[in-house]
Amino acid sequence: MHKIAVLPCDGIGPEVVAEGLKVLEVVAQKYGVEYDTEEYDIGAERYLRTGEILPDAVKAELAQSDAIYLGAVGHPDVAPGVLEHGILLTLRFEFEQYVNLRPVKLYPGVETPLAGKQPEDIDFVVVRENTEGLYVGVGGSMKKGTPDEVATQTAIYTRKGTERVIRYAFELCRKRDDLKNLTMVDKANVLTHGHDLWRRTFAEVGEEYEDIETDCHFVDAACMWFVKNPEWYDTLVTCNMFGDIITDLGAMIQGGMGVAASGNINPDGVSMFEPIHGSAPKHAGLGKASPVAAIAAVQMMLDELDEPAAAAAIDLAIQAALATGDVPVTTGPEGSTQQTGDKIASLVE
Ligand code: IPM
Ligand code: MN
Repeated sequence: MHKIAVLPCDGIGPEVVAEGLKVLEVVAQKYGVEYDTEEYDIGAERYLRTGEILPDAVKAELAQSDAIYLGAVGHPDVAPGVLEHGILLTLRFEFEQYVNLRPVKLYPGVETPLAGKQPEDIDFVVVRENTEGLYVGVGGSMKKGTPDEVATQTAIYTRKGTERVIRYAFELCRKRDDLKNLTMVDKANVLTHGHDLWRRTFAEVGEEYEDIETDCHFVDAACMWFVKNPEWYDTLVTCNMFGDIITDLGAMIQGGMGVAASGNINPDGVSMFEPIHGSAPKHAGLGKASPVAAIAAVQMMLDELDEPAAAAAIDLAIQAALATGDVPVTTGPEGSTQQTGDKIASLVE
């Protein structure tokens, strides 16, 4: 029995999560997946009502779950960073979800802004380090608000943290398909301490994977190649900050934020799955947002829970729905969130 903790949170989170759970129910029935869900009232509304962000009691329960399914975090009435740090980053860090897995895949029937590119050209996965780098919150400011203000924000890279995510990427590349190409995205020509650690670790770990071809691309160049030659990429590994940035670019070339899903993975612990889009407050409550990314996040969750048949069935249903060409991939008319969920659920059956 898989215990799934559900955190719908803010904005469009609850509406897209509802569709993900709808599809989960159908697929679970068909493939005999046993699970139960427990929903937690976390997010902006609770924070604005009570001042609580992520109470210890909730965290303790999440730690007992087998997976976390999250909607989206962020609200216009809450200062930037409060919920992002208090919920999302806290869970990623404290549960040691050191891999942020972000597939970039152009589904047939979805339009890419890249002229002439086909689904076979855009099919790669970014392994983003998820617990270190510029995200650690190390730094400070002095003389704040004066003309002499100074601020520092330090990137922290550890050998252990770098090695474990690089090793994960090699293993993933080995089992993903027959391309066997792993690209590290860095800025070793400028970040001569931090990314030198990444380069050396990549080379050393790579010696254990002779079947895998490796490359290192500077992040600025990688942005260029994402647009010009996405077919070059198979598996990528990169630091937290660059991974954040290049996966928004990745989401765009795969047709939009409404189709991009991600997994925050601790291979030995509790992992968390979410669409990579945000809470999109202006669309909240209208039933316009595409739930495809949230449904694809359920697919990733089932894979991690070792339910590959159920996961594959969701993938096929998403593909079949998108191939019809009448499923909105970012936003659609009011009510389309539910209709898309219904359609994908019916295609599972
Ligand atoms: C993401 C988001 C988060 C990040 C924000 C909301 C903190 O942009 O998941 O990519 O920067 O990691
Ligand atoms: Mn991001």
